Amino acid sequence: MTDAQLNVILLGAPGAGKGTQAERIVAKFGLPHISTGEMLRAAVAQGTDMGLAAQKFMESGGLVPDEVVIGVVRDRLAEPDAQNGFLLDGFPRTIEQAERLDAMLAEAGRAVSHVILIDVPEDELVQRLAGRRMCRGCGKGYHVVFDPPKAKGICDVCGSELYQRTDDNEETVRHRLEVYRAQTEPLVGYYEGHGVLQSAYGGGKLPDDVFAQVQALLAGG
Ligand code: AP5
Ligand code: MG
Repeated sequence: MTDAQLNVILLGAPGAGKGTQAERIVAKFGLPHISTGEMLRAAVAQGTDMGLAAQKFMESGGLVPDEVVIGVVRDRLAEPDAQNGFLLDGFPRTIEQAERLDAMLAEAGRAVSHVILIDVPEDELVQRLAGRRMCRGCGKGYHVVFDPPKAKGICDVCGSELYQRTDDNEETVRHRLEVYRAQTEPLVGYYEGHGVLQSAYGGGKLPDDVFAQVQALLAGG
């Protein structure tokens, strides 16, 4: 029955560890990982119309317009693997997106079950993003200091080349953090009001220690 579904949102600033925790949640709970950032980056790489429209917003660290992102999520949530639960990462990011998500789930008799806020101090966020590397093949994330690959510049899992995201330079990171405070942080109050917000503290903790908190929150109902 829909009540038992894990319809989960990972909320947190750029670099908080949403993607890192998502890898672990997917492995443990078998939910489809729906990352709007990853879907948009794939569209940019493929040069689709949507990718071309999104690219300038992403490179500046601003948000892609709500209508574009909401359409992407609506289509993805309609796919068969998302009917029994999902893990949203990077969506919603505005109150408008949150309201539209609630409405589209309500149409199907569903609702968000858990919103997990990963809370990390700002200086640590900047350090994490500066050292992040991503795999071009499978998308796995690394960090040059905190989580280095076994061979420099090469993915442990699929052997593809690692790259640095174009929005991980210092100036763009500062802007992304401002955008988060202004447009996305208000979702904390929104989901508190809906009684579904829970927090995991990620500052100075290893990814597996953060996951222990996340897992307890998801298993606890
Ligand atoms: P998106 O891809 O969602 O980026 P983001 O929200 O800025 O978040 P990040 O992916 O940068 O960080 P993360 O929390 O996933 O951290 P990670 O696990 O990688 O969005 C990109 C852009 O797309 C946006 O700016 C916007 O333009 C657009 N967009 C996307 N969604 C949108 C939407 N809904 N509406 C409008 N526009 C949208 O970890 C970071 C690093 O830290 C890694 O190197 C990792 O190894 C390391 N690390 C992780 N955990 C730890 C730990 N516990 N200790 C030490 N290091 C750690
Ligand atoms: Mg991410």
